[in-house]
Amino acid sequence: MQNFDYQTPTRLLFGKGVIEQLPEVLGAIGKTVLLAYGGGSIKKTGLYDKVLSLLEGFTVVELPGIQPNPKYDPSVLDGVRLCKERGVDVILSVGGGSVLDCSKAIAAGAKYDGDPWDLITYKVKAKAALPIVDILTLAATGSEYDCGGVISRTETNDKIGYIDELLFPVCSFLDPTYTFTVSKKQTAAGCADAMNHIMEQYFCEDSTLLNDGFCEAGFRSLMINTKRCLENPSDYTARAEMMFACTLGCNGIYALGNSPSGWPLHGIEHALSAYYDITHGEGLAIVTPRWMKHVLSDRTVDRFVKYGVNVFGVDPALPKFEIAEQAIERTYAFFEEIGIPMHLRDVGIDESRIDEMARHVAENEGLENAWVPLFEADIAKILRDSL
Ligand code: NZQ
Ligand code: ZN
Repeated sequence: MQNFDYQTPTRLLFGKGVIEQLPEVLGAIGKTVLLAYGGGSIKKTGLYDKVLSLLEGFTVVELPGIQPNPKYDPSVLDGVRLCKERGVDVILSVGGGSVLDCSKAIAAGAKYDGDPWDLITYKVKAKAALPIVDILTLAATGSEYDCGGVISRTETNDKIGYIDELLFPVCSFLDPTYTFTVSKKQTAAGCADAMNHIMEQYFCEDSTLLNDGFCEAGFRSLMINTKRCLENPSDYTARAEMMFACTLGCNGIYALGNSPSGWPLHGIEHALSAYYDITHGEGLAIVTPRWMKHVLSDRTVDRFVKYGVNVFGVDPALPKFEIAEQAIERTYAFFEEIGIPMHLRDVGIDESRIDEMARHVAENEGLENAWVPLFEADIAKILRDSL
């Protein structure tokens, strides 16, 4: 078991109606609030009106229009400018992972005199950040319980995971009823994203029985509950369990004591969504079974056997490689069953930029240090196999 250093300062308020505590939580921080949100789903669902009614007495500065795969320009830059000009005390992020990730970059940028890109690219370490409170409307990324945000810069095809311990939200409001309106496509993509977060912590060299069981329960819970959410979008118990499993996905808790995996699936997917602006969870689901096939070997087979037997109930009496192959096939079949397009061509990606993306990943994602090291040729092969 590896040493670890773990602290998550975020307060989680989970369940129906927790939003009523919003004025009290924000009031303890400050009076001028940057209300950050996306393309309008919160207006359609009525959450926007509810939030404004709770913010009576606060000064509200709005930052609307944050897109999926949030963009540095204009959203981060606009948000930083508004915070500085209007003396914002706290950012209230209402939406999915994209709104929250954008809010994190804004929080750091607002307390920095130079170009916020210096912070996102780690040229400069932030000394301070504005506090963030969020109301999550989509179960997927785990951004509500971690200190990372992923920011895209269109002109350079960069999609960078910006991590800094100053960026943990102060408080996350997690009311599963706000996810009832999430589309089937985004529900499935959210499940694939969260399952991948667990895979990136499960598929590693050194782990514990405790963690393996925790991860395996996470996979099973996500698979069962996502299907229930797709059948009945207003199934509170299913939405709640899905939200809880997603929230734990990215803050390291599934991997405490494990050796690092290098997060190869995310390293590869970030290029796909940077170059083609696709939905993150779909890109991950497409790449996953091809990556699994690529890294399956005498050295890794036991890990896939454990995954196959404990997550999918594959017969442990079968030969090892047969169990592993079945585990990979069942992973593919599950993603397909929940409606995810399983080829890059299905999401508008063809052969033309595969080599360029593979080079970008090899140069920027450090996957030569992954559980199974991946170099440019490996990445290109995985991407071609995914076409
Ligand atoms: O923009 P609006 O109108 O709000 O619509 C959104 C958006 O179109 C919609 N939506 C959100 N809540 C809804 C809803 N529609 C109906 N009802 C609701 N309740 O869903 C669409 C997608 O939203 P988005 O926020 O982009 O999805 P998600 O939460 O999956 O976030 C994806 C982003 O997070 C990054 C990804 O790379 C991607 O940029 N990630 C962040 C991580 C982190 N901070 O730890 C880790 C992840 O690995 C991931 O990389
Ligand atoms: Zn992810």
